[in-house]
Amino acid sequence: MNRLKIALTKGRLEKSAIELFEKAGIDCSPLREDTRRLIHTLPTEPLDILLVKAQDVITYVEHGVCDLGIVGKDTILEHGNSFFEILDLGFGACRFVLATKKGEDLYGKYRDIRIATKYPKVAKNYFEKMGMNVDIIKIEGSVEIAPLLGLADAVVDIVETGTTLKENGLQAVDDISRVSARLIVNIASMKINRTQIMEFVDKLDSVL
Ligand code: PRP
Repeated sequence: MNRLKIALTKGRLEKSAIELFEKAGIDCSPLREDTRRLIHTLPTEPLDILLVKAQDVITYVEHGVCDLGIVGKDTILEHGNSFFEILDLGFGACRFVLATKKGEDLYGKYRDIRIATKYPKVAKNYFEKMGMNVDIIKIEGSVEIAPLLGLADAVVDIVETGTTLKENGLQAVDDISRVSARLIVNIASMKINRTQIMEFVDKLDSVL
């Protein structure tokens, strides 16, 4: 039996993914150790888990060096290209929103509005559907600062608890889409390792 490789998003999704695996009866003890190791060989399953950044989950799966990946739908919408998205894992639930400073009249301006975002593709698709021309400014993080400093009129960003928006005096003015963690599979690997992959998928699915 081949050992399957799964790229797992470090940080926000990591803990919930490990909890889900354990609920499905998969021994994740190597991942529970306090270590900086990035590749973990599971003792009871033919699975190796690699801890990587969200965008890199997609890169590794698309290039076929990992068979599977666990990554947020937000990253898939922004960076995904070709793989199978096979399960909605439910955790990591948040939403994409358009948000402005409280009281801002976003649509009353006599110029194209400026949008700051970590997700230019998601923002572009949203405003294209709305039939609006906008200037999109790519920001790498702490996007909520951009409207406060006047760099942008609004942001397109993910909201989980709403605390960051609230504590920075912003409010959501439109919901764009819901996102959560997804299990993705490399297209060739799905053909070659179908039985083994589907056994793993069924194991996870049974405890969702
Ligand atoms: C994300 C997102 C918001 C925040 C939302 O940022 O971009 O800023 O979390 O979470 P909340 O609704 O629970 O407050 P992240 O923490 O990933 O950091 P970043 O802004 O540096 O990318």
